[in-house]
Amino acid sequence: MAKVNNKSKTSNFIFPKSLTGIQGLDDITTGGLPKNRPTLLLGNTGCGKTIMAMEFLVNGIVMFNEPGVFMAFEEKTDELVMNVKSLGYDLTTHLANNKMHLEYVQINRDEILETGKYGIEGLFVRLGQAIDKVKAKRVVLDSLDTLFYSYDYQVLRSEFKRLFSWLKEKKVTAIITGEIGDTFLTRHGLEEYVADCVIVLDNRVANQITTRRLRVVKYRGSIHGNNEYPFIIDEKGIIVFPVISEALHQKTSSKRISSGNQHLDDMLDKKGFYVGSSILISGTAGTGKTSVSATFA
Ligand SMILES: Nc1ncnc2c1ncn2[C@@H]1O[C@H](COP(=O)(O)OP(=O)(O)OP(=O)(O)O)[C@@H](O)[C@H]1O
Ligand SMILES: [Mg+2]
Repeated sequence: MAKVNNKSKTSNFIFPKSLTGIQGLDDITTGGLPKNRPTLLLGNTGCGKTIMAMEFLVNGIVMFNEPGVFMAFEEKTDELVMNVKSLGYDLTTHLANNKMHLEYVQINRDEILETGKYGIEGLFVRLGQAIDKVKAKRVVLDSLDTLFYSYDYQVLRSEFKRLFSWLKEKKVTAIITGEIGDTFLTRHGLEEYVADCVIVLDNRVANQITTRRLRVVKYRGSIHGNNEYPFIIDEKGIIVFPVISEALHQKTSSKRISSGNQHLDDMLDKKGFYVGSSILISGTAGTGKTSVSATFA
């Protein structure tokens, strides 16, 4: 009988993941989001949650032949279709091909206040039908805050747990978006404990310059990049820059080239600049930046 090597068996274990197809994000998460589990995508308003979730869904259809369901609680379906058109996504084709189900669920404030509570059973029924209809492997719920806004703490906690186990039972890879809280990650301060994977987006202004950043706060069962990574949203969607050494593929040269100035070369190991490198020459007005560069040229 063949001897089983438990040690190597453990080390060969690959955590099941679902590629997002979003450039850079799959590097940081070392292979995508936890497969068949929900991920929390948090951030302040306008930081790109809806767009990122939509890209995850569209990429699922286009790149991995995984149909998807998008349940919107904030934006109406025709608005969403319009909004993502600027990113080059034509949702109408996916909807017509039955690869995507897009639904706007209106959470009626008055109804909730009148009856005092609102179970998520109704959502399970609608979501279940939608998943069956397109045989969905990916699901997006956008957003948590609209879905749960009237809940008191106790009910919210149990309902949120129920939603997570329901999604896991359905074996779909899901993204649930939410607003970031002041003291806790989420507004309600408890959802992040239930989630296996939490990603936070941020859109901050420093010196009049806006930068978008992404951070994987936690990922149970997997290694991931821990830093904040810059990302952009352009007409092709989201690109995250995984500024980690493994992502730097270009070769470096050990060859040297003269700076054109003997004294400067002397200061640089008597050899000058590295071939193929980029040199930043910095200084206040009139200190000789142009002259130094011109000498090199
Ligand atoms: N085609 C595009 N090119 C560049 N940037 C875009 C494009 N479309 C949208 N954006 C950017 O994305 C932002 C909206 O992102 P998104 O709607 O995903 O944010 P959100 O986090 O879901 O916000 P909210 O919490 O309000 O729902 C816009 O404010 C804009 O800055
Ligand atoms: Mg949104």
